[in-house]
Order: sequence, then structure tokens, then C-alpha cells
Amino acid sequence: MKTMYKVTIIVLVLFTSFKVLNAQDKMPKPPVGQTQKAICILYPTQGNNASGTITFTKTENGIKVVAELQGLSKGKHGFHIHEFGDCSSPDGTSAGGHFNPEGKQHGAPMDMMRHEGDMGNIEADDTGKAHLEYIDKMLSFDGVHSILGRSVILHKSEDDLKTQPTGNAGARIACGVIGVAK
Ligand code: CU
Ligand code: ZN
Repeated sequence: MKTMYKVTIIVLVLFTSFKVLNAQDKMPKPPVGQTQKAICILYPTQGNNASGTITFTKTENGIKVVAELQGLSKGKHGFHIHEFGDCSSPDGTSAGGHFNPEGKQHGAPMDMMRHEGDMGNIEADDTGKAHLEYIDKMLSFDGVHSILGRSVILHKSEDDLKTQPTGNAGARIACGVIGVAK
């Protein structure tokens, strides 16, 4: 009788621990591979001096873009995400055109009709430094709209926000690839 009692206890303990382990397996886990933050280090193209860092951080309202650049000429410079994460050509043309997964027209960052990559302009002061900070509602880290693995191009001239399909922003003076950040 005593043995029966012991066996029952052991079976119960085993059964309970199995159930606990099973329940742990079924508990929701944080999503794997969901990027919260991305970074792009801009390097000057051949014959240029502009460089800097841009971070992209997921927020409730969109992707927060923060850019800190230096080595620019004073004034506004077109600033876009381009289709390919390829800065290998000396003039930056290997990065392709503006990132445009929806086949839309070029526009301003606050327009509904714009390329996904249209971040408008960044303005440098007379020391050649430029700071930009805004929330972009169109940029994404997901699926066909993901900016990860694409590039940021900084242009010599101002983006007029209307000329198709480039904004007439001129030569590409810096290029960097967007990657996953810590
Ligand atoms: Cu561009
Ligand atoms: Zn564009």
C-alpha cells in the first residue's frame, strides 16, 4: 500500500512538471528578427568631404530619423534613401535611384505622393555641419518597404521636391548603407 502511494506521488510530480514545461513552450516570446533601430554611416564619394551618421529608430508614430553630418557646403542638400545598398562606384551611382517600392512620383517627406526614400533636404551651417531630426511616417523596416540594406545618398544641391524623378539635387557627394543597429 505504501509503495502504491509513493508511485502515485512520483507519477503526479512527473505529470505536473511535464505540464509546466509544456506551458513554458507555449508562452509568447519576443518576436525574433524585428528590427527596432538601424544605422547608416555616410562616407564621401570620390573628390568630396561630406560624411556623417544617420540613425533610424522605430517609434509609435513612425521612424525617427536623426542625422549628424559634417564637411558640407553651407545650405540645403538633397537627402534620400536609394534603392541599392551599393556605394562601390566612385560617384555613388551604383546605389540606383530613389527607393520607390510603390512606383510613386518624387515628392517631399511630408507629401502623401512621394518615393518612400524621399527625406527632402538637410541644411548645413557655415561650419559645414548639418543636423536633422524628424519622424517619417512612410519609412519601414518590414517586407518590401524595408529600408534595411538600402543606402542613403547626400547630394551636392538642394532637392526642389518637384522635379521628376530626382528633385534635381545634382551629384552624389556621400553614400552609406543602412544596416541593423544595436
Ligand atoms: Cu538621392
Ligand atoms: Zn524621390
